[in-house]
Amino acid sequence: MDEQSIIVEDLVKKYGDFIALDHISFDVKSGEVFGLLGPNGAGKTTTIKILTGLTQPTSGKAIVSGLDVTQNPNEVKRRIGWISADVIVDDDLSAWENLELQGKLEGIKDWKDRAKQLLEYFGIFEFKDKQLGKFSTGMRKKVEISMALLNSPDVVFMDEPTIGLDVSTRKALWDIIKKINRDFGVTVLLTTHYMEEADMLCERIAIINKGKITAVGSPEDLKSRYGGDVIEIQFYGNFDPKVFEKYGAATIKENVIKIKVNNAESILVDMLKDLSQVKVKSLKIEKASLDTAFLNLTGNTIEEEDFDARKFYTVLRRSRK
Ligand SMILES: Nc1ncnc2c1ncn2[C@@H]1O[C@H](COP(=O)(O)OP(=O)(O)OP(=O)(O)O)[C@@H](O)[C@H]1O
Ligand SMILES: [Mg+2]
Repeated sequence: MDEQSIIVEDLVKKYGDFIALDHISFDVKSGEVFGLLGPNGAGKTTTIKILTGLTQPTSGKAIVSGLDVTQNPNEVKRRIGWISADVIVDDDLSAWENLELQGKLEGIKDWKDRAKQLLEYFGIFEFKDKQLGKFSTGMRKKVEISMALLNSPDVVFMDEPTIGLDVSTRKALWDIIKKINRDFGVTVLLTTHYMEEADMLCERIAIINKGKITAVGSPEDLKSRYGGDVIEIQFYGNFDPKVFEKYGAATIKENVIKIKVNNAESILVDMLKDLSQVKVKSLKIEKASLDTAFLNLTGNTIEEEDFDARKFYTVLRRSRK
């Protein structure tokens, strides 16, 4: 197996004059769960559409499972699975019928054996003939993932797989994604605008914003490189904030001083003697998070540019009926 399942090099996508992807590059290692984290309109779906052969890039290179997607879109499609936020299972059919349709449309010879194996794996084989519309969202997701895995793909693409799901279903889906990654050795490229999801699920993340990738790394790596801890001291009276400047950038507002440091624990002992000059009311350490990394990298919080995912999903579902 290639060491890299996906290689994206200098990829550009223009819609007319609008640049949706602005020279992006990243690679995904075989067997990795990799996340594209970005707000609304960042270019996440566009990237997935190019990598799954649904749309052509304006320029640049996209290699999936060892093949150039622009030159071999059909062969790439045979080697990948795909779950989109908006193309999902047919609720009027049963799980089995959905899998049969998928198997026949894609010309998967052993679809029956594979469908049985997958439904058993997910513990829903006994419900295979039940109409999907009567399933819970969590069960429908299992069928969707079974469909994506039916052709035993090398790579599965998931575009906002947990959008609009309640917290417990979302967490259950994270477990499923981790499990299929482990059990089937499948590489997963997913997109998300949920910080927590990227943090919990992905081995590495690319932060994408307005068509540009601003950083790539493990969640821990991004947090330590771009996040920074914040020590917040609430105080009484007055003092000279310069005392704390040696620890990091300090800002003071009313009776609160915030000091941005790389690692709060490592300087706290030193800081204690300076704290004796201050009448401390409270002291709080906020550990580095992907939120702060995202803010530092893009100048925005993801929520500022975000949208109401649940509302969007409801509209989407209605429009499909
Ligand atoms: N077919 C198209 N024609 C013109 N502009 C498009 C088209 N598809 C996408 N865009 C624009 O390209 C940009 C990136 O869109 P894309 O769908 O890739 O974003 P996204 O990161 O998936 O966002 P979302 O979180 O909303 O799904 C957006 O500004 C979008 O309006
Ligand atoms: Mg999208």
